[in-house]
Amino acid sequence: MIWVARATLALLVTLSIAGPAHAGGDAARGEAKFGDCAACHKLEAGANDVGPSLHGLFTRKAGEIADFRYSPAMKRSGIVWTAETLDSYLADPQSLVPGNRMPYAGMDNAADRADLIAYLLTATK
Ligand code: HEC
Repeated sequence: MIWVARATLALLVTLSIAGPAHAGGDAARGEAKFGDCAACHKLEAGANDVGPSLHGLFTRKAGEIADFRYSPAMKRSGIVWTAETLDSYLADPQSLVPGNRMPYAGMDNAADRADLIAYLLTATK
């Protein structure tokens, strides 16, 4: 298992050296990728579902919607959602926020994540 953690760490370091992962994302393709999330997340303000509404996500603190029951792990994560933090979260949710309760294994492909984030940057406004 240790090698898995090392490999993940190496990948994270590589990604951060590579710079903002959302550069060049295609929002139209990202809208289709949102199909991965739509079963649990709505984009309208106040529309919590299995997961919290993603309205106004960017620059919000993790676990901040008052009437959604977050995991303690998410509430105390100290994350502020930006394109960069969301990219790391979607790549491997349990690695960035261990013990969080989002039942989603992660989106492996960095280009897919960039497209999805490009879409969310406008769709969550
Ligand atoms: C099967 C349901 C499910 C799917 C699919 C899912 N999520 Fe979630 N999501 C959740 C739940 C539940 C939480 C709350 C987790 C917690 O409190 O630990 C969450 C939390 C989040 C948060 C933190 C929000 C906040 O207010 O801090 C973000 C961002 C997020 N999800 C984005 C996504 C995106 C983008 C996708 C698609 C790639 C996705 N999720 C797929 C259920 C889901």
